[in-house]
Amino acid sequence: MPITESLHVGRPTSRVDGPLKVTGKAKYAAEYPVSGLLHGYIVGSTIAAGRITALHLDQARSIPGVVAIFTHENRGKAAWLDRSWQDEVAPPGHPFRPLNSDRILFDGQPIALVVADSYEAARDAGSLISATYEVSEHCTELERKRLEAYVPPKKRSGIPPPPDPRGHAEKAFAEAPIKISRDYRVNAEHHNPMEMFGTTCVFEGAGKLTIYDKTQGSQNAQGYVTSVFGLKSKNVQVINHFVGGAFGSGLRPQHQLFFGVMASLELKRSVRVTLTRAQMFHIGYRPDTFHAISLAADKQGRLQSIMHDVVASTSHYEDYQEAVVNWSGMMYHCDNVRLSYRLAKLDTATPCDMRAPGAAIGVTALECALDELSYKVGVDPLEIRRLNFASKDENTDKQFTSKALDACYRQGAAAFGWEKREAAPRSMRDGHELIGWGISTGMWDAFLQKAEASARLSADGKLEVSSAASDIGTGTWTILTQIAADAFGLPLDDVSTRIGESTLPTSPVEGGSWTAASNGSAVQAACDAVKKTLFRYAKKMANSPLADAKMENVEVSGGRIFRTDDPGGGLTIAEVMDAADLSEIEEKGKAGPDLLQMMTYISYTHSAVFAEVRVDEELGVVRVTRIVCAAAAGRILNPKTARSQILGGVVMGIGMALHEEAMTDHRLGKIMNHNLAEYHIPAHADIEDIEVIFVDERDERVSPLGVKGLGEIGIVGTAAAVSNAIFHATGKRVRDFPITIDKLVVA
Ligand code: MOS
Repeated sequence: MPITESLHVGRPTSRVDGPLKVTGKAKYAAEYPVSGLLHGYIVGSTIAAGRITALHLDQARSIPGVVAIFTHENRGKAAWLDRSWQDEVAPPGHPFRPLNSDRILFDGQPIALVVADSYEAARDAGSLISATYEVSEHCTELERKRLEAYVPPKKRSGIPPPPDPRGHAEKAFAEAPIKISRDYRVNAEHHNPMEMFGTTCVFEGAGKLTIYDKTQGSQNAQGYVTSVFGLKSKNVQVINHFVGGAFGSGLRPQHQLFFGVMASLELKRSVRVTLTRAQMFHIGYRPDTFHAISLAADKQGRLQSIMHDVVASTSHYEDYQEAVVNWSGMMYHCDNVRLSYRLAKLDTATPCDMRAPGAAIGVTALECALDELSYKVGVDPLEIRRLNFASKDENTDKQFTSKALDACYRQGAAAFGWEKREAAPRSMRDGHELIGWGISTGMWDAFLQKAEASARLSADGKLEVSSAASDIGTGTWTILTQIAADAFGLPLDDVSTRIGESTLPTSPVEGGSWTAASNGSAVQAACDAVKKTLFRYAKKMANSPLADAKMENVEVSGGRIFRTDDPGGGLTIAEVMDAADLSEIEEKGKAGPDLLQMMTYISYTHSAVFAEVRVDEELGVVRVTRIVCAAAAGRILNPKTARSQILGGVVMGIGMALHEEAMTDHRLGKIMNHNLAEYHIPAHADIEDIEVIFVDERDERVSPLGVKGLGEIGIVGTAAAVSNAIFHATGKRVRDFPITIDKLVVA
């Protein structure tokens, strides 16, 4: 159906949920008031590996207000089979089961849950619980496990393994005139969303629960709860209306959900469990990775060979996987490619997806190495990227549905002023500050997942659309409202959008940057279905002005249905519904990948990131003074929320480049900086000028809406661009992220 003029889609639109958020009316999982609520506090292990031989609970029990203490000795009933614990996005392995046995698999592992009538009492009592352990040897140090790395025996669903080698990478490398072989390291990171994980589990009677959970997928959480506790699907509802950031940490159900539900079922009371900031460091992290990367080129800089071998950390109980090296086989044209990806088991919790999982780290290594190669060839870092442009996905031999990367390079370079760059390192300075300019390419998937939605049009012209999508701060509430409002030519206020409830039409977790394309297209399809039904009734009316009209020539707008060649004619929605004796029309819609098309085509978002740094020559202090991120992400539904996503991604990329690092004392197997004072994420003072450019990209194949999604592309390439700028400024190449002052001063 043609939308002649877009009222909302494509326009910078403020968040429809903004007023609720800034006035504090938006409730988060741990904020729902419930009468008679009990509070749970999780106690964590103080060793990284071993067994509990005794638990000392007496002191805790004596604290007034304590109602129950759960340990592995009295945990509530839960499923036996691994597969009952496997959530939608679980990697292969044995999912973690809280309080399942005396065995300790990682530091901070929950060993007890104290439930009390106040949070303070629970936490106070929790602080008095201790355990005696039989300590086993542990290892949290990836270096020490590199030699034991293995190819994961079972692949994680949705994650492509590295492609088969093509050409003769070793031979081409040996014969090429210009080459580099480097080791890169990207240290483990933690998501650190603003909102702590929390669950308010409302006990509504035997086996009946309403659960407010911080999650990226209400239905994934609901499925986990019903399966782990053997509850009836219709009796368990999960609500996640608002999510204060998650970045992937909320894709899988986290400990608080299990504990909230378990305690609630055992005590037949409503229970709230929240994690502390420190506990948030024990629930999964961006894996620690080693990269051995070799690139070779001819004298002009054309790539002759790419080899990228990665070892990534995982836990002892699951084979966590992401696509880290695959990008190295498809970002540039190269006939000789060999990629490998192996895992090493550490005594940590299982890693977990973090914004642009895989790409954020794999592309960092590739793009820094390519930068190194450009200096060796003696070609501009932007030119070497253009020279090696890949016009298809060489891993799969598929066509891109679109790839406006060259426009990103051109528009980004123009906005940044790249042509004024002095080629030699250390050639640009301002007083005691060395100035450096660096560039990186970025790439991320443009997925379309199966999603469903429902739309209901009332006789008064008001519309309600719904889908069990989540809004993790990305703007889902807003874009779905825009799409629905446009479908019926309504002001935003006449549309009410419902998301964040497990009872709504089926939706995947909010992840992979797929929500705009998937849920957006489902909402569009539901609205189209309502329009078709409305048209059918309109046609059937006596003396209908639409009697011989065709759907494609009919529009619904401003409460009327009319022929596009007769906008003044037609019928009101109220007239049509009245004649059909209806008060509303409700239809469902769905979206999903086109499997036939996927045999030939593949979709990605692309970007070019330009960075300027200023480095204090004596002190090694780095400031990122300018970033230009030019992204090609198909149709932009809402330039305002879209820009926010890129800004957030770029800020996280700066964090990856300069700040973020989990510091583990390997002697103890403990993360030492589990707080926001010592785990540095960029603060406002760290962030200067960021310019976001969306280049024009029409893509009719990627999704029905032409949307690609952009929650993650902003981080990809940013750390490399910053690192490359630091090299240009200083002539020093730090290959171990984050690039902290100590490394820069001694490098
Ligand atoms: Mo994203 S790491 O798929 O939430």
